[in-house]
Amino acid sequence: MSIEALFKPRSVAVVGASGKPGKIGYAIMKNLIEYGYEGKIYAVNVRGGEIEVSGRKFEVYKTILDVPDEVDMAVIVVPAKFVPQVVEECGKKGVKVLPIISSGFGELGEEGKKVEEQLVETAHKYGMRILGPNIFGVVYTPAKLNATFGPTDVLPGKLALVSQSGALGIALMGWTILEKVGLSALVSIGNKSDLDDADMLDYFENDENTGAILIYMEGVKGGRKFMETAKRVSMKKPIIIIKAGRSERGAKAAASHTGSLAGADSIYTAAFKQSGILRALTIGEAFDWARTLSNLPEPEGENVVILTNGGGIGVMATDAAEEEGLKLYDNLEDLKVFANHMPPFGSYKNPVDLTGMADAKAYEGAVRDALANPNMHAIAVLYCQTAVLDPRDLAKIVIEEYEASGKKKPLVVAIVGGIEAKEAIDMLNEKGIPAYPEPERAIKSLSALYKWHNWKMKHKKE
Ligand code: COA
Repeated sequence: MSIEALFKPRSVAVVGASGKPGKIGYAIMKNLIEYGYEGKIYAVNVRGGEIEVSGRKFEVYKTILDVPDEVDMAVIVVPAKFVPQVVEECGKKGVKVLPIISSGFGELGEEGKKVEEQLVETAHKYGMRILGPNIFGVVYTPAKLNATFGPTDVLPGKLALVSQSGALGIALMGWTILEKVGLSALVSIGNKSDLDDADMLDYFENDENTGAILIYMEGVKGGRKFMETAKRVSMKKPIIIIKAGRSERGAKAAASHTGSLAGADSIYTAAFKQSGILRALTIGEAFDWARTLSNLPEPEGENVVILTNGGGIGVMATDAAEEEGLKLYDNLEDLKVFANHMPPFGSYKNPVDLTGMADAKAYEGAVRDALANPNMHAIAVLYCQTAVLDPRDLAKIVIEEYEASGKKKPLVVAIVGGIEAKEAIDMLNEKGIPAYPEPERAIKSLSALYKWHNWKMKHKKE
């Protein structure tokens, strides 16, 4: 059973749609409309009548069976006790996929799990798939689909984000906007009664709009299937996982949160490693890596070049590179080209110090030369904000040079400074060039790209 309808539905019905601001059934309608979904939207509510949302009037159908058209996706927002009947009706209607927002199922215990199983049985009888229950919905930016009750705006991009936790997932929606992390998709998978992490990996593996996948996970259902899928998908696209419940007490909290059995943490660590999955320990780390992994091409070799205007950040980046096992390029014949872009007291040894005098011309020349040299495989551009060059101008230079080069090799940026530095970082991230406020974060993200790439190369040979 394909889950295409979860991301590219031709029509969406909201069962429990409401005209009352403040209700979840209202927020979902509002997000569908305001994010620009172009397919048909139908409102279903036992009350019938008419509702108005975001200036659009909707006739309200009393049941989904009354909708005078085909429905690909039905988002269910009615209290748990009404869900079984609604699922049955959706089946009769020929709906393809059901995101069930409602809580009050498996997370409550055995009784709730049984109800979930019955829902899945009914759904499968009709060839439908269930997402959830206990979720905040689904976003797919290429289809302008925002069927969630989270923020309306989601920055389009190449990262698919899958979250088992609802509240955290919603919070991350807001966070990705603030931090300029572009998303292809955002899926809340909640209790995973039917569709689970492996199904998401299956879909994103061949989704042309997705470059990397980031999963927040508390427990895996069907561990073997998941690891096998992850191993296959990792050969094509990088997977980053934040697996919470590492400590014994954390694992217990996970069990009562979404009913997950967290399992021994060391088993996860080993299994992730084997499957090429990058395990992040914090949200910040996960998104740092995700920026690089979802946007950049793989390196064609191991030689990394660091360009900087500040000795200090150059040294810090070098420490991080050494610790991460990255190889800084040492061929002085090749590196000598950078002498053209620095005063005599600069250093063209890697890390290349363009000095505090580095202006727009110096960075432009150095970045261009580094991009052009086939022996330089990955580049880290570092900048300490000085009065010589506005960081936003630096951002423009990097964007222009990188785009002109055809984006064939990985390039990360770190800009340390004040408000203008933050603006420059945002400009770069909006263009899909990973930029960070600290040199170590840029280097560690580049290292994550190398780790995945090296795993892939090694695995290809086996
Ligand atoms: N078919 C269609 N509509 C139905 C229905 C049915 N069988 N049964 C009830 N409805 C309608 C109601 O008329 C109501 O409409 P109204 O908003 O115009 O009054 C609407 O569905 C919602 O029902 P209501 O009883 O008002 O519930 P609610 O809006 O307070 O809560 C849920 C519904 C689903 C949001 C709530 O039960 C729930 O599960 N909340 C938790 C959601 C959550 O946190 N999910 C996880 C996030 S990570």
